[in-house]
Amino acid sequence: MFAEDPHRVETWRRDAAGLSVDISRHFIDRESLTQLLGLIRAQGWPGARERLFAGEPVNHTESRAALHMALRASKDRDWRAEGEPVSEAICHELKRLEAFTRQVHAGELKGATGKRFRHVINIGIGGSHLGPELVVTALDTAPEAPDVHFLSNVDPAQARRVLAPLDPAETLVLVVSKSFTTRETLSNANRAKAWLCEALGEKAIARHFVAISTNAEAVARFGVAPEQQFGFWDWVGGRYSVWSAVGLAAMLHLGPKGFRELLAGAADMDTHFEKAPDEDNIPLLLGLIDAQYISAFGWHSWAVIPYSDRLRQLPSYLQQLVMESNGKGVDSRGNPVSASSPVLLGGTGTDAQHSFFQMFHQGPNPVPVDFILAREPDIPEEIEAHHQLVASCLGQMAALANGREPSSDAVMAPHQACPGNRPSGLILMDRVTPRNLGALVALYEHRTFVQSLIWGINPYDQMGVELGKQVATGALGALDSGQTMGDFARDRWLKEFPGAAPFRV
Ligand code: F6P
Repeated sequence: MFAEDPHRVETWRRDAAGLSVDISRHFIDRESLTQLLGLIRAQGWPGARERLFAGEPVNHTESRAALHMALRASKDRDWRAEGEPVSEAICHELKRLEAFTRQVHAGELKGATGKRFRHVINIGIGGSHLGPELVVTALDTAPEAPDVHFLSNVDPAQARRVLAPLDPAETLVLVVSKSFTTRETLSNANRAKAWLCEALGEKAIARHFVAISTNAEAVARFGVAPEQQFGFWDWVGGRYSVWSAVGLAAMLHLGPKGFRELLAGAADMDTHFEKAPDEDNIPLLLGLIDAQYISAFGWHSWAVIPYSDRLRQLPSYLQQLVMESNGKGVDSRGNPVSASSPVLLGGTGTDAQHSFFQMFHQGPNPVPVDFILAREPDIPEEIEAHHQLVASCLGQMAALANGREPSSDAVMAPHQACPGNRPSGLILMDRVTPRNLGALVALYEHRTFVQSLIWGINPYDQMGVELGKQVATGALGALDSGQTMGDFARDRWLKEFPGAAPFRV
């Protein structure tokens, strides 16, 4: 395609919300775009997007809206979730979070012994962990901000590692859980409670614990002071929740101004997705290309490679966003789908080049790659290192696209040849700023929505996750009552889950 049209980069570059997206190395031309647009229109585009933004219960299995866009939008718009106005409540909670953050930063809110909070632990998992961690890792900290740590895994080794170096008297603990029933989170919260009580006594809990949840009753039972409880709403999905009170750790790290910038970047991308014509609409184009690779070409993997150490948590974040949203076996009407979410893998450039990129260059199944790059050096005096990053990123894109002709050595030729024609896209930004990160994450959210529309699936529930939790509950009961793992597998597993009969231990 490049041989036929040397101007492909200009033709297939789209700019919005501080991002510049080059899709010229994807398998896309006017004809295929027309076909893909025809396909998505037949699947209800753009009406489905309108229903999403109108707060209709698009998450029909849970009868909920998916209105995360309202969390980051200007308050002039009258956002409604299932007809109920939400803008005022969002604004109110955001202001409470900002006031709380300012008090922590100013040292006005102190621990039980009068010490300033120098550390914050975010206890949460999945959507209650990955978003805040992405933001905290990617962006500069406000000068007066406490250090933020994360505790997600139920493995006590993690709790030991995180808690050991911290002074309880200087530590604020955020318990973040939409449901406030997640076993890992409650177990870690209780562990942190015991750690704190042992050092400072039970009374200290009220000052040192903050809870973020939609389940106010469970929070109250846990014993968090009312002024340290922050809420959000059932129309905010866990993996779409970093923009809500779930982002408190991110706000404490960035400061209220930086957090507003993050929201503003996402809002810019929302406006683009809602208003831009189809041919220029970046999440739409990318989502269509993704679906084409999966459904038409049978390529079920997808790699996201930021050439930025700041974005090292992005692949993990996107794994939940994409695979928990679209990893479904049936469409909205309950009919089986032949394809859905790609397997998303990732890592940072240049590390990934020295690991799994070999497969991208010569493996039999192409893996489309998103390359993400900042134009300007992150550290201004490190221009040469920045050149290395840029050259590596562009080098990989070109090598994947162009491949390498076999050499004249008959024995070595097949081993050395790289077939080329391997697609990739480039997402460019000036620097990794709060605003650009907000736009980038919102881009992937909307792209995930577009993919779901092509397959006709509900991206906003995650019912498959429940089965594992259910089995684990049975197993936990068995282990706690003294059974061995073998006992459980033999006596309980086959009886309670007869569908699993072929699996024998
Ligand atoms: O088990 C999956 C999941 O339900 C995710 O969807 C969610 O982000 C995570 O668990 C944590 O849930 P919660 O915020 O309710 O603790």
